[in-house]
Amino acid sequence: MRKKIVAGNWKMNLNKEASLALVNGISDGLPGLSDMVRVIVAPPFVNIPYIQDASNRNARVEVAAQNMHFAESGAYTGEVAADMLQAIGINTVILGHSERREYFKEDAHLLTKKVEQALEHKMEVIFCFGEKLEDRQGGNHFDIVREQLSDSLFHLNDVDWDNIILAYEPVWAIGTGETASPEQAQEMHAFIRNLIEQHYDDEVADRVSILYGGSVKPANAKEIFSKPDVDGGLIGGASLKTEDFLAIINSI
Ligand code: 13P
Repeated sequence: MRKKIVAGNWKMNLNKEASLALVNGISDGLPGLSDMVRVIVAPPFVNIPYIQDASNRNARVEVAAQNMHFAESGAYTGEVAADMLQAIGINTVILGHSERREYFKEDAHLLTKKVEQALEHKMEVIFCFGEKLEDRQGGNHFDIVREQLSDSLFHLNDVDWDNIILAYEPVWAIGTGETASPEQAQEMHAFIRNLIEQHYDDEVADRVSILYGGSVKPANAKEIFSKPDVDGGLIGGASLKTEDFLAIINSI
């Protein structure tokens, strides 16, 4: 059975002190959490070791990176390689976030190389994708999502999918306070699972966790998570507040 996942993408927020307070607060709030739920936080690179130390007190909080480079090593100023992450015990990385696509011009070709590099290192990828407002308004959202998935993931083999977590994040819902309705999320997640079944088989489709991201809050988490094809959430703003993030985890 698929595990449920609640992941906090901290983006470029919180210094060392503030992020330690947050992770300690989360850890303290997790006793009694079901083994079927994974909790992941993704701090900025520079804070990862501190967060790992703190989260080791409570093995229930896993730590992921927000990004990595596609090359093994080399002259890429400011970048971080898979091997460097793994050497400090990071085995999960977020790739394809809409903010990376938009502000850093990460396209399908680049993202495919990053996914391949992560999988070569046996890292787990939280692969983000989702349509923009104009795509949704124009009725093209299913086509866009199909294209994003097939461009970067559908050349992978069945076994590679053991290390893929999908995160559907409609761009119009990120940081806007506007959320896809639980029905819209379910409709898209079912579409995605069906696509995977067509390209692979029902076993692969059934195994992959599909998270929803975009203005998930304590007030809407339970309803979104209750949908059968929504396996959890990738949370931005609300993951920066201990009480809100714990409330979202407890909604799963
Ligand atoms: P918000 O929850 O702030 O909308 O952000 C979602 C997100 O981008 C998670 O990766």
